[in-house]
Amino acid sequence: MTIELPNEIEAKLKAKQATPSEFDYLKTEASYLPYDQTILTDALVALMQGKNVLLKGPTGSGKTKLAETLANYLKQPMFSVNCSVDLDAESFLGFKTINYDQDGKQLIDFVPGPLVQAMENGHLLYIDEINMAKPETLPLINGALDYRRTVTNPLTNNRIQAQEGFNVIAAINEGYIGTTRLNEALKNRFIVFDISYIGGDQLKSLIQSETNLSDEGKINAFVQLSADLIEAAEQGKIAEDAASIRALVDACDLAHMIPAKRAIQRAIVDKLEDDREKENVRNLADTLFE
Ligand SMILES: Nc1ncnc2c1ncn2[C@@H]1O[C@H](COP(=O)(O)OP(=O)(O)OP(=O)(O)O)[C@@H](O)[C@H]1O
Ligand SMILES: [Mg+2]
Repeated sequence: MTIELPNEIEAKLKAKQATPSEFDYLKTEASYLPYDQTILTDALVALMQGKNVLLKGPTGSGKTKLAETLANYLKQPMFSVNCSVDLDAESFLGFKTINYDQDGKQLIDFVPGPLVQAMENGHLLYIDEINMAKPETLPLINGALDYRRTVTNPLTNNRIQAQEGFNVIAAINEGYIGTTRLNEALKNRFIVFDISYIGGDQLKSLIQSETNLSDEGKINAFVQLSADLIEAAEQGKIAEDAASIRALVDACDLAHMIPAKRAIQRAIVDKLEDDREKENVRNLADTLFE
């Protein structure tokens, strides 16, 4: 996909060498389909100017895919941390470990964490669910994000200065109901992008390219189902997760092999807790599938 970029940014990107990396898991692909073309342009402009980008949107709307796509355009590896998994300062910075040299003498080594690695190597850092970060890690994140671009590692007393290319992309799961507030000082340090679910022709091409489903009629029905589910979620009739494109992709994969309604039952309905919500989704599916 070609995206429109200001000449200066385009030239810089063209001239940029891929940052070499020995880590396989850092490989990314540019497979995000934007519902609005300006998202990719504006996010790349922001990142190229050294600004931090915050992706705000419901689960399964493609935030992680978008971050990987941006990393791919920037030709930079991406380290990733998830704040919801009880992440403390050590998991960001790294930890000390005891090693032995050839003569059996004890050494204390420091194993750098994702923040330190990304800063020292000038890589991208993807911070998922940043709103769940523990209060004690916030000062660390803040220091890395603002103009200082430094953190002091309390374990080693080293001051870490970010290398050129270090950038942060963060994501928060923000749905329609019960939005999670992000600490103001933190939010202040980001350019914010609202990410919505894609629909219509874009969703159609996503289903065609990413799932096993090939039957045109079924694909169109799934595109309609997604629109109906999103509307029901917005109205509070079903849980937001039920409208996730991730679940829809699963349902499409299954529907290539088993009847569509059963696929929807497994991939979407049975994840819901509430009987009325289950019934709502089943009714929507009944109007679209045999
Ligand atoms: N706009 C999109 N472009 C490409 N793929 C998408 C898009 N939206 C959803 N998907 C698909 O949906 C799935 C979920 O996407 P992704 O993991 O990026 O969502 P997320 O917003 O990060 O979700 P979560 O908040 O749960 O982490 C992926 O498999 C991806 O293929
Ligand atoms: Mg994600």
